[in-house]
Amino acid sequence: MLNYRKDLDAMPSYDGVEKDYRIKVNANESTLGLPPLVEERVLNRLGCVSFNRYPNEEYYSLVEQIARNFSVAPEQVLLGSGSSEIIEKIFHAFGGAGHKIVYPQPSFSMYKIYAKAAEAEGVPFDLDEKFDLDVDAFIKTVRESGASLAVVCNPNNPTGNALTLAQVEEIAKSIDCAFLLDEAYVEFYGRSAFALVKTYPNLIVARTFSKAYGLAGARVGYMLAAADVTRMIGKTFMPYHLNTLSLAAADIVYQMRDEFVPRIQMAVAERQRLSERLKKLAGVEVFPSQTNFVLIRLERAAELTEYLESLEIGVRFFSPNAAGLKNCLRISVGTRMENDEVFAAVKNFVEGR
Ligand SMILES: Cc1ncc(COP(=O)(O)O)c(C=O)c1O
Repeated sequence: MLNYRKDLDAMPSYDGVEKDYRIKVNANESTLGLPPLVEERVLNRLGCVSFNRYPNEEYYSLVEQIARNFSVAPEQVLLGSGSSEIIEKIFHAFGGAGHKIVYPQPSFSMYKIYAKAAEAEGVPFDLDEKFDLDVDAFIKTVRESGASLAVVCNPNNPTGNALTLAQVEEIAKSIDCAFLLDEAYVEFYGRSAFALVKTYPNLIVARTFSKAYGLAGARVGYMLAAADVTRMIGKTFMPYHLNTLSLAAADIVYQMRDEFVPRIQMAVAERQRLSERLKKLAGVEVFPSQTNFVLIRLERAAELTEYLESLEIGVRFFSPNAAGLKNCLRISVGTRMENDEVFAAVKNFVEGR
C-alpha cells in the first residue's frame, strides 16, 4: 500500500469527459484553428526557437507585450500554463490551513478543487435562481468569513451571465482580502476590469489564450496585479513552468490579436442566434450569456445529452450533484453550420421526432 498524502483519495477530480466528437461543443474552445496568417507566422516562429535553452527570452517578450498593452509595468504581469496554473497558484498563495476562500456556486468547478488542494476551506456562495450574484451579500460573506481570497468569474462559467464593471469595483473596494477576477471569457463580453488593478491593490485579473484566441492546446494564460502581489504569487511557480513553444506561439498570437476580432464578433452573433432559436423550443429555459457558450435547462437534459452523443455531438452535461445545475447542459458556440446542426438535433429531441 503506497503512502499517499492525507485526503488525496477523497479529492474530487475534474469531471469533464473528453471524447472524439464530430461536433465538439463541450469545452468552450474556439471551434476554428488559428487564422491562416497567424498560423503561418506561428509555424515560422517555432522554426527559430532554441530548443537547448530554457525559455527566458520568450517569457519576457510576451510579458512585455502584455504590459505595454495594458499600460502596466512588466512586474505586474505573470504568465502561466493556461490560466488554470495561475488560478491554482493563487489559491496556493492565499490558501493553507485556517484560510478561507470564497467563490460563487455554480461557477468554474475547479475553484472547489483548488481550494481543497491548497488545504484551505472553500466557502461556496450560492448564486440566486437566475444565477445572479447578490453583490452585497457576497461582500458580507467575504468579510464575515474572514476570507483570505474571494473569487469571481466574470462572465461566469457555466452560467454565462456577467457582473457590470461597477459591481466588480464595488466588490474590490469593499473587501480587504485578495480578489481574483477570472476573466477567461471576457473577450466575448467586452468589458474587462483590468484597469481597476491600478486602483485596487487587492485585485488580481486572470486571462487566458485558450478561448477567444484559439490556443487551448498551447496552455497559456496570464494575470495582472500590483507588483508586490505578482512577486508573492510568483514564488509559488516552479522555474521555467512554461515551455518555449507555447510562449513563442502565444507571443505571435498576441502580436496579431486584431486578426481574432472578426471571430470573436462571429461567436457573439452566433451565440445570440443560437440562444434566440433555443428560446422558442417548449420546455427549454435559456440563460442569458455574455460568453462563447449557452446554458440551457430542460427536464430531460440527461437524455438529450445521450441523444446528442449518439449523433457524435458533445455538449457539457452537469452531474446531478453539481449544485444549482440540475437538468442543465452547456453548449459552446461552434461554426454557423455546427450550431445549425446542434439546434436541429435539440429541436428534434424536444419535439419528439
Ligand atoms: C472560468 C474558467 N477559468 C479558467 C479556465 C482555465 O482555462 P485555461 O487553463 O485553458 O486558461 C477555464 C477553462 O475552461 C474556465 O472556464
